[in-house]
Amino acid sequence: MKKIRIAIDGPAGAGKSSVSKLVAEKMGYSYIDTGAIYRSLALLMIKKGITLEDENLIAEELRSFNISFKMDNGVNLVFLNGEDITKDIRTEEVSMLASSVSAIPFVRKGLFDIQRAYAEKGGVVMEGRDIGTVIMPQAELKIFLTASPLKRAERRLFDLRAKGVADITLEKLAEEIKKRDEQDSNREVAPLMPAADSVVVDNSDIDLKQTSEKIISLAEKIIGEFL
Ligand code: DC
Repeated sequence: MKKIRIAIDGPAGAGKSSVSKLVAEKMGYSYIDTGAIYRSLALLMIKKGITLEDENLIAEELRSFNISFKMDNGVNLVFLNGEDITKDIRTEEVSMLASSVSAIPFVRKGLFDIQRAYAEKGGVVMEGRDIGTVIMPQAELKIFLTASPLKRAERRLFDLRAKGVADITLEKLAEEIKKRDEQDSNREVAPLMPAADSVVVDNSDIDLKQTSEKIISLAEKIIGEFL
């Protein structure tokens, strides 16, 4: 059976990670979270006190940047230079800095090869902002996954509460999501936008299972065309 490449792009909080992970698991494909790559760089910067203006220092970090993933019981573990940073990259501070640093052209260029290497083989579900447009334009299936801003903020709140984060409100999250949408969509290089040949899936009113089933049925249709 042919193994295809599936690109899933969309705004913050659209459910890309949960959906992509489930689709990959059901299809026996590997799952790559490219947002985690930008988040890891942001975390490194915070830890080392590097600001967005320190371009030489960011470039230096990119040269020795070594990220790897490992799926463990449905959890996508992220390692940076061998250290498990899975939880550390999920703070709101990291989210905002990842969005800002990802708008710098040399950063995107520096992280291009790492992502492209994952796109070489079939049998992959890769999620991000520019997967269908830049990283994996040859993907056989491209999904632009979206949901209303309110739904996205509600889902983020639910996830954070489940992780024990109490000091955040729906209003604050909605504001941050709006700011990230603006940053990610209006940057000059590789802005967030649906690829021309993508299928737009709005999952405001359907759940995780229904969303993944929809994507898997689109994938199966494409795979069937190769038979
Ligand atoms: O998907 P995420 O929320 O983990 O991504 C964090 C930030 O990284 C996001 O605000 C923009 C950036 N990003 C990007 O520019 N390109 C990608 N392919 C993935 C993420």
